[in-house]
Order: sequence, then structure tokens, then C-alpha cells
Amino acid sequence: MLNGCLRRFQRDTQALQAQVDRDPSIALLHPEWMLTRWREAWPDDWRELAEANNQPGPMTLRVNRRHVDRETYLARLRDAGLAAYPTPYTPDGVTLNEACDVRALPGFSEGAVSVQDEAAQLTAPLLEPALATTPGARVLDACSAPGGKTAHLLEAFDLELTALDSDAERLGRVDATLARLGLEATTLAADASRLDWWDGQAFDSVLLDAPCSGTGVIRRHPDIKRLRRPNDIRELAALQARLLDTLWTTLAPGGTLLYATCSVMPEENVDQIATFLARTPDASADELDVDWGRPAGAGRQLLPRIDGHDGFFYARLRKQSA
Ligand SMILES: C[S@@+](CC[C@H](N)C(=O)[O-])C[C@H]1O[C@@H](n2cnc3c(N)ncnc32)[C@H](O)[C@@H]1O
Repeated sequence: MLNGCLRRFQRDTQALQAQVDRDPSIALLHPEWMLTRWREAWPDDWRELAEANNQPGPMTLRVNRRHVDRETYLARLRDAGLAAYPTPYTPDGVTLNEACDVRALPGFSEGAVSVQDEAAQLTAPLLEPALATTPGARVLDACSAPGGKTAHLLEAFDLELTALDSDAERLGRVDATLARLGLEATTLAADASRLDWWDGQAFDSVLLDAPCSGTGVIRRHPDIKRLRRPNDIRELAALQARLLDTLWTTLAPGGTLLYATCSVMPEENVDQIATFLARTPDASADELDVDWGRPAGAGRQLLPRIDGHDGFFYARLRKQSA
């Protein structure tokens, strides 16, 4: 049968290829409903977005600035025979020319460095205005596992941080990450869409890195293309809205909530924040003066880039002072 298929392909290559080219979901290897959504949302970029999803993402590292600065670590990589360059938009990032086993990275087991995409590394710089000048600030990382952003926040600022996740097993990975990096936080297995875990003391800042469709990181998890259904987006958006409303009550007046997803679906991002702002009178969004991504309502959207960062969305929300 295989022989027959190959002969037919040899005989009818042009006709078969034309058939494939006519159907973008075959040519771009994505389900039709996803491409339809993206064509509406990103009329000039949907094809490039899908093409980026079909290429492997680069291996990017976050240098632990409590151990070593980026320039020095780049030199250590060079000495180890690993070519790398600084990430363009984040202060602690380094992208390797070629992916490698983490055990080959100088100082990995001593906590000098972690693997984290550049888009995920934008969280700490976005919280810098809120956290850099207030050592000891009470911070909640509400959906923290496996702990990449928790660790980056603790590397960058002196904080009293509570790391929550509803998945106790995944939360164990936060503990392991913090132990490797020599960092400390209170970790708590709890549902952030409820308040039964909260002692009533308000947080100065909250990070909501929300559970989402993962459509910005398809190149790292290609099974998302097969497993996600259109209905998931509606259900996830409803959960994100519940998380936003609940966590808003834990935020101190004048405090900052950073909303993040690794999604490229407007329902989880620009639309989510627009409806939150419309129903929350004491909330406003900061204009983000940054050189990455594109404006998306009150937030900023990054689409995945070949050899560059993953797809992400950020909005920085401020609670009116009392
Ligand atoms: C995008 S991941 C977080 C990634 C993490 N912030 C990091 O940088 O490593 C979303 C997390 O939300 C958690 N989650 C889902 N529903 C939740 C809920 N109701 N309360 C708390 N955590 C939840 C999931 O278990 C998952 O670990």
C-alpha cells in the first residue's frame, strides 16, 4: 500500500500539492477553527503565527542576577563552548544558538540559571515599578506552578511572596525550583477562584498567570492543536474572569495586579480585560510603555516569533487608592 501511495504521489505531485495549498488547515497543519479565529483577530499575521508554531522554539535561559550578571554568564557559556546571545527585550535573558541538556549549562545545579522563554521573562520587568522600591512587599503569585515567574520575581526583588496553585503535585515543582535557586516563598495548594485560603491581609501586588489555552506556546506543546476544542476557550475565559474577580478583592488599594496568559486568543486577553475593566469601577489599566508586542486594548499582545519569544499577553491593572 505504501508503495502505491508513493507511486501516486510521484505521478500526481503537482495536483496533490495544489490541493494541499488550497486548504490552509492542511498546509499549515492547524485545525480550521483556530485558523479562522486567528484570521479574524490577526488578519495580517495569522499565517506567520501558524508558521511560527510549526518551528521549534529556541532555548532561552534566565540568568539568576543574585548569582551572576548576564555578561559574565555569556562569557561562561562561551568558555563551555555554547554560543548564545542576549535576549532583545528582557534584562536577564540569554538565547542559545542550539538547545542543549541543562546539565551542560555552567552552574545550572547551583542555581545560576533557569530555562524560561523571553516572553515569560517580561513579568518581572512589568512589576518593577510596583516592587523595586518597596522591599518586603507582600506579593501573591496566584497560579504559580511550576514556579518560573515566582523564581524570577524573587531573583529580582526582595519580597514576602505567597505562591499558590490548585494542583498540589505541580506545586511541588515550585518548591524544587526554589530549593535549587536558593530562594524562599510560602507555597500553598489552594483554589485561587475562592477565598478560603486567604487570611484577609491584602497583597501589595498580585500576579495572575492564568490557566489558558496555551495557544501562544503551541511550538513547545504541539498536542494543543489536537486536544483543544473551541468550547475550551469559552470555559477558560469564564475561569479567568472568576480568578480576576476573586483576586481583585485580595489586592490592597493602590496595588497592582499583573494579568498574563500564554494565549493568542482575544477572548482570553484583550476581551477579558475589557470586560473586567467595564465591571470593576476601582480598576484601571496602566499604559505599557514598552518596545515589544503590539497594543491590544488595555494590554499588550505578543505573537510567537520564529527564533524569538513565545506568544503571550500582559495587562497591568491598578486598584484605586483608598
Ligand atoms: C500558566 S500555568 C502557570 C505557570 C507559572 N506561573 C510559571 O511561570 O511557571 C497556570 C497554573 O494555574 C494553575 N491553576 C489552574 N486553576 C487554578 C485555580 N483555580 N487556582 C489556582 N491555580 C490554578 C494550574 O495548575 C497551572 O499550574
